[in-house]
Amino acid sequence: MLHRELSFLTLVLILCQHGVKAVDLISCEGETASLSCARGTINVLSANYGRTDSSTCSTGRPANQLSNVQCTQSTSLSVVTTRCNGKQSCSIAVRNSVFNDPCVGTYKFLYVSYECNLPIPLSGTSTNLVTCESETARISCARGTINVLSANYGRTDGTTCSTGRPANQLSNVQCTQSTSLSVVTTQCDGKPACSISVNNAVFGDPCVGTYKYLIVSYKCILPSTPPPPSASLTNLFTCESETAPLSCAKGTIKVLSANYGRTDQTTCSTGKPANQLSNVLCRQSTSLSVLITQCDGKPDCSISVNNAVFGDPCVGTYKYLNVSYTCIQKSIIVCQDKSRTITCDGRRRLNIHFANFGRRDMVTCPNTDPTGMSSICISSETRTLQLRCDGKKSCHLYASDSNFIDRCPRIFKYLEVSYSCD
Ligand SMILES: *[C@@H]1O[C@H](CO)[C@@H](O)[C@H](O)[C@H]1NC(C)=O
Repeated sequence: MLHRELSFLTLVLILCQHGVKAVDLISCEGETASLSCARGTINVLSANYGRTDSSTCSTGRPANQLSNVQCTQSTSLSVVTTRCNGKQSCSIAVRNSVFNDPCVGTYKFLYVSYECNLPIPLSGTSTNLVTCESETARISCARGTINVLSANYGRTDGTTCSTGRPANQLSNVQCTQSTSLSVVTTQCDGKPACSISVNNAVFGDPCVGTYKYLIVSYKCILPSTPPPPSASLTNLFTCESETAPLSCAKGTIKVLSANYGRTDQTTCSTGKPANQLSNVLCRQSTSLSVLITQCDGKPDCSISVNNAVFGDPCVGTYKYLNVSYTCIQKSIIVCQDKSRTITCDGRRRLNIHFANFGRRDMVTCPNTDPTGMSSICISSETRTLQLRCDGKKSCHLYASDSNFIDRCPRIFKYLEVSYSCD
C-alpha cells in the first residue's frame, strides 16, 4: 500500500508536469488526500467517497468492512470541487466529518480524478512574440487557433535583437514592412500552431543593411463550437415557515452560499411588525452546511425554512433563507482507445448534454507523435451518445474509431462528454 501510494504520488507529479489530464488519486479513510499541480490549476473531474471494489484500501481490514462495494456519496464531487478547483494544491481529510457517511460500518476511500489546467492565452489576451532575423518564429496556441493582430518585419528600436551586432545595423529604427501582417496572417490565422522563417526571402527587405526582427502580436481564439453549457446561478429567497424549492432542470445542485436569518429589512417583510425586521445582522453560520448536506448532488430538494431545521440565530426576528446555487454537470475525458464507464447513483439516470470525439484543445490527451495533436477537430457525437446512454444507470464509453465515425483522421482524439444524473 505504501509502495503504491508513493509511486502514485510520483506519477501525479510527472503527469502534472507534462500537463497531462485526468490524474486518478486514491486515499484511504483516515488519510489526507493531497491534490497538486506542478503547473496550472486543479480541475476536478470526478470524485467518490465510499467503496466500489473490495481490494482498494483493504489491507488489514476485516471482510465485513469491505463487502459493500456499492457505497457512493453523491456529494463527493462538490466537496472536492469546492476545496480544490482553481488551486495549485489542496488537501482534504478523508473522513465522515467531511463527506458524511454513505455506508456506516464500511471502510471507505476517496477516489478523485482531476486534471491540471495550464495557464493559457484565451481570447481577449494577446501575446507578443519577437524573433530575430534568420531565426524561425514559432507561434502557437495551447487551446484554440491563432488570430494575428499585428506584425512587423523590420526594426523600430535599438535594443531588440541587438546582441553582438555593429551599431550601423541597429541605427535605423524606422524600418517597417507593410506587407508583414498579410504574410503572417496567411500562414498562421486559424491554425493552432505555425512556423515562419524570419528573413528577406519571406518578407522582402524593407531596409537593406539593417539587422531586423519580426514582432507578432496575436491571440488565441477558442473553437467556434461552444463549450458544454455551464451552470447559471440561481438566487432563492424563502420566508420563515415556508419551504425552499431548489431544483435543477439539468444536472445536480451545488449550493454556493446560504444564510438563514435576516440581512436586510425588505425581504420577507410583508405584514410583519417593525420589531421583527429591525435586526439585519442575523446570520446562522451553519446554514450552508445544512443546505450542502441536504441538497448537493441532487437534482432537486426541498428544505423547510424554520428554527427546527436551522436553529434560531435571533429570537424574535422574522427570518428568511437566502440561498444561491448552481446546477452542475459532470464531465469526463476518455483518450483515444481508452474506456471508462459513467454511472448514476440510486434511481437517477444518465442524461447526455454534450459529446465530442475529436480534439478541442492542444493539451488534453497528449500524444507522443506531435502530428496527432496538430489540429483541432470538432466532431459532435452528442446524438450518438444520447441514443446509447440516455435513461440508463451506467454507460460504457470506449473512445475508439470502431465506436464512432472517424471525422478526424490522423488526429489523436479524445471523447469528451458532459452529462448529468437526473
Ligand atoms: C443573500 O446572500 C448573498 C450572498 O451572501 C448576499 O450578497 C445578499 O446580500 C443576500 N441578500 C439578502 C436580501 O439577504
